[in-house]
Amino acid sequence: MKHRGRFGDYGGFYVPEVLIPVLEELEDAFYRFYEDPQFVAELADLSKNYAGRPSPLYYAKRFSEHVGFNVYLKREDLLHGGAHKVNNTLGQGLLAKYMGKTKLIAETGAGQHGLATAMIGALFGMETKIFMGFTDIERQSVNVHKMKLCGAQVIGVEGGTGTLKDAINDALRYWTAHVTDTFYLFGSACGPHPYPTIVKHFQSCIGKETRQQCIERIGRLPDMVVACVGGGSNAIGIFSGFYDDKNVRLIGVEAGGRSLSEGKHAATLVAGRVGILHGAKAYLLQDAEGQVDETESVSAGLDYPAVGPEHCLLKDTGRAEYVAAEDEDVLDVFELLSKTEGILPALESAHALAYLVSLKGKIDPQQVAIVNLSGRGDKDVSIVEKHRPLMND
Ligand SMILES: Cc1ncc(COP(=O)(O)O)c(C=O)c1O
Repeated sequence: MKHRGRFGDYGGFYVPEVLIPVLEELEDAFYRFYEDPQFVAELADLSKNYAGRPSPLYYAKRFSEHVGFNVYLKREDLLHGGAHKVNNTLGQGLLAKYMGKTKLIAETGAGQHGLATAMIGALFGMETKIFMGFTDIERQSVNVHKMKLCGAQVIGVEGGTGTLKDAINDALRYWTAHVTDTFYLFGSACGPHPYPTIVKHFQSCIGKETRQQCIERIGRLPDMVVACVGGGSNAIGIFSGFYDDKNVRLIGVEAGGRSLSEGKHAATLVAGRVGILHGAKAYLLQDAEGQVDETESVSAGLDYPAVGPEHCLLKDTGRAEYVAAEDEDVLDVFELLSKTEGILPALESAHALAYLVSLKGKIDPQQVAIVNLSGRGDKDVSIVEKHRPLMND
């Protein structure tokens, strides 16, 4: 149903005048096409045959034995491109095509959204530019190379800390000057209206599938659904399948960075105050004067000072809980999942797993937790290696 992008008092579109008609055009196009039978059929075909949906729900037996309760992994890491991001880029890419746009731009942090956009640019034959901060270009260089192989131009962003916030700043600036033929394929469930609504819609397949798979596999709903939160798209995608199931706890895990207590982190919902960034009112990490704080996290995809507006409302209403996992625990669980299951999790997804480890010995062994394994860790191997050098056998 059409609405003006408010989740309680959060959201909205606080953007330069020039972008207002463009966002309205996008909103109109979304509501015109998202239930259009041809659009729906085309997206369903691509989701299945290009991206690899449905993704499996896997019982992680040895990891479960380690934490002392049942853990199932929703394997978004197995999708084409290695993360949940392709759900959104297929949907928005198709929307761009239906709108007659010929060029795509996107921001990226970990490179997963950039890669997923570059893939779709190649698929639809659209010129693609990806904005990426210099810090992220260095730490996620494998994805930079992959984007270029798919024919995208990667534009390095020098400002700020060289992370996701700065990439969004430059992408928005570029879009303001190229609105006629360029579609901004936004990567998370944040930013100005209508993006939080659009991105949630295209990611909600995760929650719908998981709920059904859970009933088929386990014969009941899970006790908790856990997902990492950067801008919030993989979490909102899986949470939305369980909103009405009041006994299912929804837990979002943010980046506690090097030290939550010393303020070196990116845990927006845990430690932020309400403010406005990138066109939306939301929780925001800011200093006493309201200037946006610098963030810090071992995972580029969570290294962002704001968050999607719907998560802010879910926090305030208590429907979802938000916690943070610190870098050292995230690196530990990266190794643990690799050793117990032979699955390398993305450092982003490892935050959700780290929360489960913190529950070890504290909850009933019959409990069932589902973790959204939002991406695979191949892109993070060199980061982990830097922090945890492997010993020669
Ligand atoms: C694998 C993976 N998971 C999670 C995220 C965080 O984004 P979001 O909160 O939108 O799911 C990213 C972002 O790059 C990612 O690459």
